[in-house]
Amino acid sequence: MSTSHDVKDLALAEAGRRRIEWAFQSMPVLQAIRKQFIQSQPLAGVRVAACLHVTSETANLAIGLRDGGAAVVLCASNPLSTQDDVAASLVKDSGIPVFAIKGEDNQTYYKHIAAALDHKPQITMDDGADLVNVLHTSRQDLAGGVLGGTEETTTGVVRLRAMAQQGVLKYPIIAVNDALTKHMFDNRYGTGQSTIDGIVRATNILLAGQNVVVAGYGWCGRGVASRARGLGAQVIVTEVEPLRALEALMDGYRVMSMPEAAQIGDIFITVTGDKSVIAADHFERMKDGAILCNSGHFNVEIDLECLGRMARSRRMVRDFVEEFTLGGGRKIFVLADGRLVNLSAAEGHPASVMDMSFANQALATEFMVKNHARLEKKVYPVPEDLDKRVAQMKLESLGVKIDRLTPEQEKYLTSWAEGT
Ligand SMILES: NC(=O)c1ccc[n+]([C@@H]2O[C@H](COP(=O)([O-])OP(=O)(O)OC[C@H]3O[C@@H](n4cnc5c(N)ncnc54)[C@H](O)[C@@H]3O)[C@@H](O)[C@H]2O)c1
Repeated sequence: MSTSHDVKDLALAEAGRRRIEWAFQSMPVLQAIRKQFIQSQPLAGVRVAACLHVTSETANLAIGLRDGGAAVVLCASNPLSTQDDVAASLVKDSGIPVFAIKGEDNQTYYKHIAAALDHKPQITMDDGADLVNVLHTSRQDLAGGVLGGTEETTTGVVRLRAMAQQGVLKYPIIAVNDALTKHMFDNRYGTGQSTIDGIVRATNILLAGQNVVVAGYGWCGRGVASRARGLGAQVIVTEVEPLRALEALMDGYRVMSMPEAAQIGDIFITVTGDKSVIAADHFERMKDGAILCNSGHFNVEIDLECLGRMARSRRMVRDFVEEFTLGGGRKIFVLADGRLVNLSAAEGHPASVMDMSFANQALATEFMVKNHARLEKKVYPVPEDLDKRVAQMKLESLGVKIDRLTPEQEKYLTSWAEGT
């Protein structure tokens, strides 16, 4: 492996550059931050290792950080989510070292993380906490040099909070996922639309009239359920949290347990961040032709090892569609190997929503560089003023004006004296 980069084919760079430019025009907030970064150089000389989905939107974040003075290196946060042309362009056109190839095996995936860590990062940027995990296990020698990190997704934040609670986290991390301008938009509208996009691109099925089972009614699940309903599907939600289940019911969906839903569903979408949400008991009950996919972070939500053991035979029938034939000839189809279907079979979230997520990443990185010395080894939220600034900038970029509180209203909203 070359030490400076490892991408599929540098000849793909031209196509990648055009796609990076296409995404950039839908990322006005990141554009504005990049302009400020060029002027103020807040990351001058800071080494950043980013373990993110290598997409055209991520490329624009990496370029923005570089323009702010950072020495950025990028590796993939999922073996199937890399856009090879984008990776090639980042290396060739932007001079950013990338270690990522779509379809890489697990061993190469971790080799690429190790290569990114060889750059001795001062800031780690993660999507799922695999980079942090390696740094805290086999590369602990590097931890002393790290100022802090950021985390992009729910599953990563869950892992990092567990590390902080056990007292093993070695530096502060900002949970970018928990910014309102991240999860309320990226997880809901981004995952909602792109998950359906991934399913449709992989299968070309008509969703209208299908029974779509959405497992998990969190931010992603709400988005997926509403987009599936928008296309005419009959949506069933499964949950383990009573409040979320009740919310789904009041939002107009059918709510039931997975063993019940397994018998009815035509298409199953897991977005829980949990493991074995669909397992042996459910495979047993499914209809012939059921389609299964996952849009949660890791490929553990559908117990594919078990399905593999239950199957008499398996074969690929289309790109990203694997057919498992069970006893009696019943077939179950699994998309994208149970990995994030939106990033594997489609292109992930649209740029206009990643604009806000990555604006948070860029501002959180700047914040960490400035404030790391006063932070403890904990997981911190994105400061509220940064979150609001991103929302304000997004509204401005969309030409939307909102009202301002009058002094009288401000006083009223902070007093208790006035009543009926
Ligand atoms: N595909 C993408 O591009 C993308 C984008 C953002 C987040 N994610 C990932 O999607 C997953 C969900 O994220 P989120 O922000 O919606 O999280 P969330 O915490 O808001 O929601 C998860 C929901 O799943 C429910 N759940 C847990 N175990 C369950 C089970 N066994 N059966 C049914 N429901 C169960 C929880 O009660 C919760 O309501 C995470 O892994 C996250 O990292 C993916």
